[in-house]
Amino acid sequence: MTITILIDNALPLNENNLVAEHGLSLYIKTDNNEILCDTGASGRFLDNAKSIGLDIEKSHFAFISHGHNDHCGGIGNFFEAVTLKNVYMHKDILTEQYYSSRKGAVRNISCNNDALTRHINRIVTIEGSQQIAKDAFAIQCKEEKFTKPYGNRFLTKNNGEKVVFDNFTHELSLCFTTPQGLVIISPCSHCGVINIMEECRKVTGRDKIHAFIGGFHFVEGEKCIDETECFANDITKYYPDTIFYTGHCTCDTAKEILAKRLENIRFFTTGTIIEI
Ligand SMILES: [Fe+2]
Ligand SMILES: [Fe+2]
Repeated sequence: MTITILIDNALPLNENNLVAEHGLSLYIKTDNNEILCDTGASGRFLDNAKSIGLDIEKSHFAFISHGHNDHCGGIGNFFEAVTLKNVYMHKDILTEQYYSSRKGAVRNISCNNDALTRHINRIVTIEGSQQIAKDAFAIQCKEEKFTKPYGNRFLTKNNGEKVVFDNFTHELSLCFTTPQGLVIISPCSHCGVINIMEECRKVTGRDKIHAFIGGFHFVEGEKCIDETECFANDITKYYPDTIFYTGHCTCDTAKEILAKRLENIRFFTTGTIIEI
């Protein structure tokens, strides 16, 4: 299987053909399917796909990991660029509004609600975990044994009744069963990387996790060093054989610590191609 990072916060040095933005979008090719996972913050992922030579029209379906606009801001562009492709997402995204107060004033960071309403007949809602293709599961994380990212405390949602701390029921991960073991795509990991890994093993009944790909949601700030060191300790103890690929919402301080502490860590930017 091949995973191409269509857009990420970072660009490799001397890369002139692609653009970066605060957001994430990945294109996944397996033996059975081609899948677009997340659409970044705008339509720029489509421009990058063209420059890389990937035809999004060939995708069998799209998958939205959660309701934040750095992952689904470009969903309207996807609907307009391709024909008749369904988009899987958690049902709560259609009824909730999401907010961040991390950079001071409270900002609405929800999806493009107009696009969702306009193309509602192409949205396939998911509740809980379920198999969505021969070798792929959508996983809703219910596991809470390990700490969730500190950065979650700046994130709230209006659940239709009132504004509450976001518990991330709207977050889904993509989990593939491959001959090498599970391959998990978890673009923002608000539920916590290790919680998501444990949930994927529980739902699929498979024990080995070959690779975990996504942002870890470790944000710069007072708790970053502690939470990253704690994560590195847990990975060394519980998942020393899994390969982790990260970028997007894993901040520079966290990346530096992970690079020093873990042999099984890799970093991605816009345009990175991961071969499994
Ligand atoms: Fe994100
Ligand atoms: Fe997010």
